[in-house]
Amino acid sequence: MNKSLLILGASSDIARAIARKFASEGWDLLLAGRDTESLSKDAADLKLRYKVNVEALRFDAVDFDSHQKFWDGIDPKPLAIACVFGYLGDQKISERDWTEAKRAIDTNFTGAVSILNIAANYYESQKSGAIIGISSVAGDRGRMSNYIYGSAKAGFTAYLSGLRSRLSKSRVHVLTVKPGFVATKMTENLKLPGLLTAQPDKVADDIFRAYRTGRPVVYTRWFWRWIMLLIIHIPERMFLKLKL
Ligand SMILES: NC(=O)c1ccc[n+]([C@@H]2O[C@H](COP(=O)([O-])OP(=O)(O)OC[C@H]3O[C@@H](n4cnc5c(N)ncnc54)[C@H](OP(=O)(O)O)[C@@H]3O)[C@@H](O)[C@H]2O)c1
Repeated sequence: MNKSLLILGASSDIARAIARKFASEGWDLLLAGRDTESLSKDAADLKLRYKVNVEALRFDAVDFDSHQKFWDGIDPKPLAIACVFGYLGDQKISERDWTEAKRAIDTNFTGAVSILNIAANYYESQKSGAIIGISSVAGDRGRMSNYIYGSAKAGFTAYLSGLRSRLSKSRVHVLTVKPGFVATKMTENLKLPGLLTAQPDKVADDIFRAYRTGRPVVYTRWFWRWIMLLIIHIPERMFLKLKL
């Protein structure tokens, strides 16, 4: 396996920052997502800027039946995968409309499990490789304002934890990334607290450092680790009153 990273959901703002960071460290890239036209433009730009090989591939996280063929079509296989795609959705709509709730669950959880199961079996057989999963602090405790998205991310966090235990014997690194607020397309309509909101490039730096040092879990920015420690320890009766 050459030093290359497959980015799933490569048109996301965090994914674009991850692509720049890894390319600047000499990694070749496979940019996978639904909009191959815009990914091809990104690929051309990254190639020129960082003198690395970059390819664009079509990938749809919720087209589960296509995942095995997608993986089989990649040759040579990447040394690492970053699973970045996600869908925040609308909590209020999700409470009434199963299609909206299912989209959040399928994108953030089922789609990730479907493709990573396939990649994990390959890496296990090779006894090398790395899987970087972008979960969320929203998965650490269900909140009334976004528990459909949060519960899908909680499932993804638990999946990555189990996968890490299984693959540790095979020297495959599984990194769980838990971003707090990040200024991206996903959050552009939300009022985020400036001091707690990170830029995607900072998040990508944290991810690269955590990957390089073999960390199992990283909160980004770092202070979310302490914020979430506090939040998960608030007694349930008090938590109900907070209406978070
Ligand atoms: N921004 C935050 O505050 C924040 C906080 C915690 C965690 N996260 C997580 O970080 C990751 C990146 O999010 P972001 O903030 O960079 O958001 P973003 O810019 O809105 O990116 C979301 C990406 O997911 C892709 N996607 C959605 N459904 C897909 C599907 N069925 N197949 C393939 N790709 C699909 C979208 O692709 P299209 O361009 O094709 O729509 C888009 O590129 C997500 O997993 C998100 O949950 C974000």
